[in-house]
Amino acid sequence: MRDAHGRTIDYIRLSVTDRCNLRCTYCMAEDMQFLPRRDLLTFEEIETLCAHLVTRGVRRIRLTGGEPLVRKGIVDLVQRIAALSAHGLEEVTLTTNGTRLPEMANDLAEAGIRRVNISLDTLDRARFAELTRRDEFDRVVAGIDAALAAGIAVRINTVAMKGINEREMVDLLAWSGRRGCDLALIEAMPLGEVSLDRQSTHLPLDPVRRDLERAFTLVPSLHRTGGPARYYDVAETGTRLGLITPLTENFCAGCNRIRIAATGTVYGCLGHDQKVELRGVIRGGGEEALDTALDTLLAGKPLRHDFDIARREPALTRHMSVTGG
Ligand code: GTP
Ligand code: 5AD
Ligand code: SF4
Repeated sequence: MRDAHGRTIDYIRLSVTDRCNLRCTYCMAEDMQFLPRRDLLTFEEIETLCAHLVTRGVRRIRLTGGEPLVRKGIVDLVQRIAALSAHGLEEVTLTTNGTRLPEMANDLAEAGIRRVNISLDTLDRARFAELTRRDEFDRVVAGIDAALAAGIAVRINTVAMKGINEREMVDLLAWSGRRGCDLALIEAMPLGEVSLDRQSTHLPLDPVRRDLERAFTLVPSLHRTGGPARYYDVAETGTRLGLITPLTENFCAGCNRIRIAATGTVYGCLGHDQKVELRGVIRGGGEEALDTALDTLLAGKPLRHDFDIARREPALTRHMSVTGG
């Protein structure tokens, strides 16, 4: 698939639920209203959609949420999607908060997961409880270790916030490195009304990188996923540092992705409301109608997001948990 700006789209982010067992302050409001379950695509519908997308050239599918591992039957879905490797799919991955991995890591590895991204914003238990509004730090660490023990490669995702976890960056990189995990630092994006003041906590990552260079040797890396992270090899740990800088250094020119919400709404860009509804099209059947709907989306896929930290209001009322980033 190609969009109107000549970008090849071969990567899908698919949110399987908008629900989550945590309430990260930069992501969700305390009293989130979740979708009724009947509005979600069924696993059969997701499988049909993924199979179709693979025929259109999709090579990687990342399952997201909310928290993807809270949806019942998810291991089975992973297995069914992984089976599309027979038709050209190269990878199915997950972005997860890690809390369910202690029980699920082995089954996920068996189902075909080779890599996961796990969110961890702090190494301090009390700060974790404050940030996520849940006391699940130990489970996340156990989840990271369970994934590694199951042979799954782990990248840690850390949303970097001024005055909150900004002094932990060296420790987080060392901690991830000791476990053999890459670390991605992320600038928080203004999606949905949340209690955290994203303006005063905005932390540009370029100075953070320069700070890290006092403790580590960072060498720009050739590693590419087609995603937003710019990578550096960390000489001391043998792992990588990724920087995701939506607010300070735009990466949209290389965008390779579209994102599907749990309801079947497909969005061209995380930072725009451009969308096409696929649920009715899937339920109505017909590969041709699905192609037409996807082509409409691709034709209108925005050139770039325009998140702007100077703006007081969130760029969109939709929360991150609807599309999983
Ligand atoms: P890869 O699949 O390895 O490329 O990982 P990823 O970095 O895309 O995935 P992950 O789910 O770990 O997301 C990390 C951060 O990148 C989250 O904050 C996402 O919201 C953000 N992100 C992912 N894709 C996009 C995108 O297309 N645009 C923007 N602005 N942010 C994105
Ligand atoms: N801005 C940037 N990243 C976010 N995440 C959740 N909300 C935001 C936001 N507003 C991160 C999570 C997870 C990934 C899917 O996106 O921490 O690692
Ligand atoms: Fe849940 Fe992830 Fe949002 Fe945190 S960032 S509330 S873990 S969906």
